[in-house]
Amino acid sequence: MRLLAVALLLAASPTAASEFYTLKGHGGPIMGIDAAPDGRVATASFDNSVGLWTDRTPHWYDGHEAAVNAVAIDGEELFSAGDDFTLRRWPGGQVIGRHKGKIVSIAVSASHVATASWDGTIGLWPRFGEGPTRFLGPVGAGVNAVTFARGGEQLYSAGMDGRLLLWDVASGRELQEVLSHGFGINELVLDPSESWLAYGAVDGVTRIRNLATGAERDFTLDRRPILALALSPDGKDLAVGDGEGYIMVIDTDAWRITRDFRAALRGPIWALAFSADGQNIHAGGIDNAVHSWPIASLGEHEPIATGEQRFLKDPETMENGERQFARKCSICHTLTPDSARRAGPSLYGLFDRPAGTLPGYHYSETLAQSEVIWTADTIDALFDEGPDHYIPGSKMPMQRIAKPQDRADLIDYLRRATRQEN
Ligand code: HEC
Repeated sequence: MRLLAVALLLAASPTAASEFYTLKGHGGPIMGIDAAPDGRVATASFDNSVGLWTDRTPHWYDGHEAAVNAVAIDGEELFSAGDDFTLRRWPGGQVIGRHKGKIVSIAVSASHVATASWDGTIGLWPRFGEGPTRFLGPVGAGVNAVTFARGGEQLYSAGMDGRLLLWDVASGRELQEVLSHGFGINELVLDPSESWLAYGAVDGVTRIRNLATGAERDFTLDRRPILALALSPDGKDLAVGDGEGYIMVIDTDAWRITRDFRAALRGPIWALAFSADGQNIHAGGIDNAVHSWPIASLGEHEPIATGEQRFLKDPETMENGERQFARKCSICHTLTPDSARRAGPSLYGLFDRPAGTLPGYHYSETLAQSEVIWTADTIDALFDEGPDHYIPGSKMPMQRIAKPQDRADLIDYLRRATRQEN
């Protein structure tokens, strides 16, 4: 009896390997994914939040003031970083690192968290508050990727200038320029035995470098840029995601491409991670959901971006005001009472509402304390001057709408579309 119950439970277990599923709940595209050995999955989203998924149920970590680009789980701790220049530790969301530009990648060792930033430096942050914070570089161009080597004693970095560098963590010294590619390098992966390093670049190049001999294998196809690389926990499968929505899988024993499929109907693959058991590939792109495919049946399940997204609706069928909203606002704002975990608050009932007062939304101090009331005039000024000038310090992104007619049409549309029904 008990055995039967266990067997049934296993069969119904939501974490059962080798089935297709999605993780739904984010209010914006998925920019980063990491998977823990115990099966939990962490997600970083354009909606400013971090998701921690246990058996496909999310727990939300809110606190970033802009899009989150990278996540890393290590034991009970989770680290995240993004467009607000901060590195945060969860639970709690404490800011443990701050750059002067956006952070696009995180690596974790036993003692440090490393961050790759577009300010041209690599941040090294002691995990347990011991020892000084240090910056490696500046390297002269934005840094896109970091990965630790030798148990955390060394670190590889790569960035927009196409240089792949090796650093000594203790001294902060640059040890070696491993290679210089003619185009920016976006992604790095080091194999568990540290005999080779894979890199993916802006020009679509995917190469594997033998670290002992410097010899390279080339897996470049005609798609660009490479935006995501992930290695299965046993190091046997390397997944590559690109700007055209494809995922290619390379068998690293035989060094051949075993799968290549269209994972997204529209848009890029920004994030990839293998499940802890190596059976599934989790992928993120323009959809608000993570898609997880069993490797055995890649390509046989629903691709990303099949659902109709409002901002992707055929623009020709819309009036100008609606088109302005769809293109410039809908990725961050709903018009319904629910904010749906988008990066910005719902604009439902916007007219005559004092700024920063929608219950349940986590506003910046600046907006919450401003004395603006939203009317046709103030919304017009917001996008005539741009939020960075109209309400400096708000976490609304810089954006201007130059043409007065476009602003007038947008406001006219908003007046109708945000009207409260009561
Ligand atoms: C990349 C995301 C993003 C885009 C795109 C965006 N917004 Fe926002 N918006 C935000 C965020 C975040 C806030 C909250 C700002 C704060 O708390 O400082 C906000 C706040 C607002 C507010 C104030 C709401 C309130 O409750 O006080 C208005 C009005 C607004 N946005 C209108 C627009 C319109 C209209 C567009 C398109 C032209 C737009 N936004 C595009 C992210 C965005």
